[in-house]
Amino acid sequence: MTIKVGLVVGSLRKDSYTRAIAKQASELLPDNYQVIDINIGNLDLYNQDLDDEDRVPQSWKNFRQQMSKVDAVIFATPEYNRSVPGALKNAIDVGSRPYGKSIWDKKPAIILSVSPGSISGFGANHHLRQSLVFLNMPVVSQPEVYIGNVTSVLDDNLKITNPGTLHFLQSAMDTFDDLVNRFND
Ligand code: FNR
Repeated sequence: MTIKVGLVVGSLRKDSYTRAIAKQASELLPDNYQVIDINIGNLDLYNQDLDDEDRVPQSWKNFRQQMSKVDAVIFATPEYNRSVPGALKNAIDVGSRPYGKSIWDKKPAIILSVSPGSISGFGANHHLRQSLVFLNMPVVSQPEVYIGNVTSVLDDNLKITNPGTLHFLQSAMDTFDDLVNRFND
């Protein structure tokens, strides 16, 4: 059975380290996974009036429809000011509404935080985890995926050169696969 996994990346930067790590991590999933890159950069800012008054922007409709079709989600985030970038929080908020119709509900997830710094996006990782737990998403607990000092594990083409990092990401993706299978049986 094909398992569809949405890849949601918190950085909108074209040469994003986070996206580079997330793409290569997603390639370590088994062959029966189809990874769908979800664009969050074009989402209108969440405003509850638009839901309440049936003036839902097309960008929300597209996003909600796309996300409702995936079985699981990989979240990869940089850290902005010790939290998640606004674009990612906005996507989470858009997907969580209207009340009772959250597209996140019960979807297994994994969080990857990535930073050129040594704290490895810890703050973003945990703020994101807090939202996902509230949204009733089973999230991989261990291993926690903190990719710090990211420039030291990537080459100029943003390919992971460090075997230890690849090995670690493989173990994380294997655990994610186990979690997904438990919830999709
Ligand atoms: C950052 N950066 C950053 N890094 C970090 O480790 N902790 C932080 O709190 C912040 N805060 C922060 C705020 C803002 C507004 C920007 C633009 C950047 C640095 C950040 O980790 C760096 O720019 C990364 O390269 C961003 O990830 P991508 O775009 O390469 O995936």
